[in-house]
Amino acid sequence: QHNGQTSPVMQHGQPTETDRGQGDDYHTTPFLGFNLTEIKKFREAVEKRTKLRQYLFVTKNNTKLGEKFRCLETDEWVLDPGYIRITEKNFYNKLPQESPVRANMSFRSCSVVGNAGLLQNSSCGREIDSSTFVFRSNFPPIGGPYNDDVGKKTNFLTANPSIFAKFYKNLKKNADKKSLAEDLKRYVRSLVWTHPFHLKRYSEVTLRAYDATKRYKSLNPVLFSHPKFLRNLTAFWNEHGLKALRASTGLALATIAASLCDQVTLYGFWPFPLYRGRALSYHYYERAVIGDVEFRNKTLEYHLLTNFHPYHNFTEEFLILQKMQGKGILKVQVGECQ
Ligand code: CTP
Repeated sequence: QHNGQTSPVMQHGQPTETDRGQGDDYHTTPFLGFNLTEIKKFREAVEKRTKLRQYLFVTKNNTKLGEKFRCLETDEWVLDPGYIRITEKNFYNKLPQESPVRANMSFRSCSVVGNAGLLQNSSCGREIDSSTFVFRSNFPPIGGPYNDDVGKKTNFLTANPSIFAKFYKNLKKNADKKSLAEDLKRYVRSLVWTHPFHLKRYSEVTLRAYDATKRYKSLNPVLFSHPKFLRNLTAFWNEHGLKALRASTGLALATIAASLCDQVTLYGFWPFPLYRGRALSYHYYERAVIGDVEFRNKTLEYHLLTNFHPYHNFTEEFLILQKMQGKGILKVQVGECQ
């Protein structure tokens, strides 16, 4: 409630005319089961374009000492994205010899957890945790009150370097490194996939994240994404209809999962402010939306974040994922779990 008024969304359980076009008119494609032929075709196309098994992580096997990587994105205030040379002092000695993803490795079932507000009160936690392998995006809060809706199992965790910069003050002090190692305990032994070659200004903080896990004996291996993989992943999607400048973390994880797992289910992929008349927060870990004014502000925020983001477009991606569901390549769980 806001200013004594009840939201039409809340009041009638149905959106008003003005609320339409904000989620409730997106029809999801029915899931008719996994289609092994389509899954195989998709996997082969991704592997051919990205060499995922070889290039998902930077390793000693796929890099040379002294090799120069061109960063993927450019800061607004410099003209060139810049290069990073791999030396013993910076990355080389922190790289695993080979990728933990072996040539024939595959998982029976995978859950990919996006961060949409749709997950609130979804009761999907048990189903998510029942998968063999669980992917989560951007260091989201889990545990305690979130268990019922999002589960607690994690095997593959992404962490944008901006998270280390923002929430751990660039990891300059030992106290901040220690709190990173402490916070990682929530994800048990999950690997952490971070991006040193995305924006040059964030490269160093990823090295400090690695150091933090070593210094404080964290069980979470920090692994670096290979810029070749990220570049080719976006190229793959651009060749398959994506107009945005890059694939989001969610689309990247869905693609990786579909390449490594027999049965993939996505949760928390819903870039709209409404679901069946229910007003939603943008992320599941934000409090629920209350009242008309907040709903209008949230809707604006949604449009800006999902359709006008400089690099990715979740709505466009949502439609792509629906098409994949239609073909039986993966399942997109929308709404409550059984
Ligand atoms: N997502 C979604 N709908 C939302 C919020 C998130 O579909 N309302 C999905 C997107 O695929 C997104 C993923 O969940 O990439 C993780 O969410 P978030 O952490 O918000 O992603 P961003 O930081 O915006 O994306 P990126 O890491 O690619 O910059």
